[in-house]
Amino acid sequence: MSATSQQLSLSLAVADQPEILGAGAALLRGFAAPVMTDLLESLQGLEAVSAFRHLVTPGGFTMSVAVSSCGALGWMSDRSGYRYVSHDPDTGRPWPAMPAVFQRLATAAAAQAGFTDFEPDACLINRYVPGARMTLHQDRNERDFSQPIVSVSLGMSATFLFGGMERGGKTTRLPLHHGDVMVWGGPDRLRYHGVLPLKDSPHPLLGRQRINLTFRKAG
Ligand code: SIN
Ligand code: FE2
Repeated sequence: MSATSQQLSLSLAVADQPEILGAGAALLRGFAAPVMTDLLESLQGLEAVSAFRHLVTPGGFTMSVAVSSCGALGWMSDRSGYRYVSHDPDTGRPWPAMPAVFQRLATAAAAQAGFTDFEPDACLINRYVPGARMTLHQDRNERDFSQPIVSVSLGMSATFLFGGMERGGKTTRLPLHHGDVMVWGGPDRLRYHGVLPLKDSPHPLLGRQRINLTFRKAG
């Protein structure tokens, strides 16, 4: 057993019970805490290779959230649409490889929520500063909806909106804190979700930002 999986399975004994949000959706409070040092160190390395940038939506709006990616595929948006690409358009090079600690954390979190053998090939890295938000949307640019979404929160706390299958439906507000991991898949895979404008309450490790890692099987 690797050091990371040992740390992760150890954490299962002490972590809170998952908050069940649907047949295929769970919030794992503090699940990333045992690998935090590794995670933040790897994140720094990634930022240095493929920097955060603000993308434009197909409708012509510049997103308030800045993004980067790692893994075989990276999520992209521009005037011609949303899609996954194998190269970072800013560097002309492949996206940086997904760090082993990222991969193991995502696989372990998915398993904890009931999805075994999740092997993400894409990790979208979102950076929020105070005021940045993510409007309600579905994650539907991936080929295979049988695989879940695993979403890791780092830094400043945010309010996550978790809705239903339709944009106008009722939403649940969930506070997400440093180290929390959300998983949604199966019957909940296409639920609308978003993030309210980030409040300004600096985090001891990450300062005035929130980082979100969204793991997907895209290809
Ligand atoms: C996303 O849906 O891509 C981001 C969700 C989050 O920041 O928690
Ligand atoms: Fe999303």
